[in-house]
Amino acid sequence: MNKLIVSLLLTLGITGVAHAAGDATAGQAKAAVCGACHGPDGNSPAPNFPKLAGQGERYLTKQMHDIKDGKRTVLEMTGLLTNLSDQDLADIAAYFASQKGSVGAADPKLVDKGQALFQGGKLAEDQPIGGMPACKACHIAGGSGLAEAGFPHLSGQHAQYTAKQLKEFREKVRFIDGDASNKMMTDIAAKLSDKDIEALSSYIQGLH
Ligand code: HEC
Ligand code: HEC
Repeated sequence: MNKLIVSLLLTLGITGVAHAAGDATAGQAKAAVCGACHGPDGNSPAPNFPKLAGQGERYLTKQMHDIKDGKRTVLEMTGLLTNLSDQDLADIAAYFASQKGSVGAADPKLVDKGQALFQGGKLAEDQPIGGMPACKACHIAGGSGLAEAGFPHLSGQHAQYTAKQLKEFREKVRFIDGDASNKMMTDIAAKLSDKDIEALSSYIQGLH
């Protein structure tokens, strides 16, 4: 596992978007149009719109570039980023990263299963297709993520959004960097059943 993380860190370090430092104050004004869906402070009220508040700056910047460049398809955001410069994106990322992310509630019936998968992964001997690393290895036990590495903050995220992402990684619709050879999340999601995804997404919604 450690080897995996080290090699991922190296990959991210080499290929990561070299971004200008963002200015959160300038970003607040530039993010006004985003608030309609993501909430003015990035705590989106709708379960299909991801919360951006408290998300890592590096991850946010990269997703915006991926969406702008068509490496990640978000139909709702078509054209919205076209006229924003690299500096605008950096400023917006700094703004949302500086906001406090809200936390929802997990379904009490799903907590045990979600917690076991998130914190413990799956043992190889129980699986016909090999084990699965614990989510906490990269997203950290409390779901804070690892901002400097671009590992996203997950805690408090809407379950509906999280479940959709996990299915898109599993169905190979979403790839890291839009690059099919980057199997970091697709290999993990391939080991998840619909019931696993339901439990994990609910657990993450209440995780803090
Ligand atoms: C009309 C609604 C809408 C507006 C306006 C909008 N977004 Fe989004 N955004 C979405 C949806 C929906 C998704 C997630 C799509 C999916 O399920 O993958 C998303 C995803 C994102 C993500 C990825 C989040 C993650 O956790 O990976 C970022 C970053 C983002 N939006 C930034 C912005 C910014 C910056 C603006 C303003 C310039 C903006 N959005 C405006 C609907 C919107
Ligand atoms: C080896 C590291 C690693 C492990 C282990 C891992 N992830 Fe991830 N995960 C990532 C990275 C890196 C990304 C960012 C993808 C990108 O940049 O597009 C990510 C993205 C995600 C996203 C999308 C976040 C968003 O806002 O759209 C979700 C959801 C997610 N992971 C859930 C999980 C769950 C649940 C597990 C355990 C079953 C898990 N991850 C295990 C590295 C990992």
